[in-house]
Amino acid sequence: MKIALLTSGGDAPGMNAAIRAVVRTCVYYNIEAYGVRDGYKGLVEDNFRHLHSFDVGQMIDRGGTILGSARLDSFKNEEVVKKAIDNLRKRSIDGLVVIGGDGTFKGAMALEAQDFPTIGIPATIDNDINGTEYTIGFFSALDTSMEAIDKLRDTSFSHQRCTVVEVMGRDCGDLSIYSGISCGAEIVVTSETGYNETEILERIQKAKNQGKRHLIVVVAENITDVNQLAKKIQTNTGYDARATVLGYIQRGGSPSAFDRVLASKMGILAVELLKEGKHNLATVSQGLHVNSMSLSKVLYEKADKPNLYRYLEKLR
Ligand code: F6P
Repeated sequence: MKIALLTSGGDAPGMNAAIRAVVRTCVYYNIEAYGVRDGYKGLVEDNFRHLHSFDVGQMIDRGGTILGSARLDSFKNEEVVKKAIDNLRKRSIDGLVVIGGDGTFKGAMALEAQDFPTIGIPATIDNDINGTEYTIGFFSALDTSMEAIDKLRDTSFSHQRCTVVEVMGRDCGDLSIYSGISCGAEIVVTSETGYNETEILERIQKAKNQGKRHLIVVVAENITDVNQLAKKIQTNTGYDARATVLGYIQRGGSPSAFDRVLASKMGILAVELLKEGKHNLATVSQGLHVNSMSLSKVLYEKADKPNLYRYLEKLR
């Protein structure tokens, strides 16, 4: 049997641990493993390499992805997908493991639509894949944002400022709300809360009137221009205010223990599913377990996530 693997979309800490787990599990079952360079681009451009056990040594602790990653918009096109499948079939590859976020999973579904057996492993700092409680990389990125906001808190307190911090997460507020709770932020603004500037300014004003020395406001990316918001806070509330965009620092760094273990469990399961002839599936974390779920369900069925915003209400 032969299995290929790729990483695609925004990189996330723990992708290397997942690659290692897939390759080592293949070796364990005498399956040949092939790494594809730079996501779906490498699949289309025929950029494959046979991977051995030693190729994935010394990397469980490394951030980024040794295979490289890319976003390939044209992978929606049937002809492009056909070309990728031709490249897989000419090597007699039986199945593909794709590691990434929602765009990666859509690519997996396009391959399945043309009958190529594929398994998805959710890895993105956004934690925006519905069917899995957690994605690989989320908790590592959270640790990074928490450490950064802790540092901002020091200077925020010293100078009696309102500190506005922009956290990544495209359309999903998970990284913001978890960062907010772990750093003791007073206000968290995401696509889930909506953006009501008047209300935000009123709340900050109220905190000022109550004598709060300083304030942390976490804002998810794509919500508003945080520098402009800081200026408005300064003009309207009496707080001196500064904004910081954490940006891509959240995507890098060594994965947390949780992400390494999650990636290892998911990598093993992905290979075992293909070995058993199962595909069109994603690995998902459910409580303490790693299970599988159909790709379409994991992508499109809204999961019942806990409402963390109600905790914030009681903590500020
Ligand atoms: O999906 C992860 C993520 O970091 C998002 O939080 C962010 O919106 C996006 O990727 C940025 O993507 P790019 O690397 O293409 O700029």
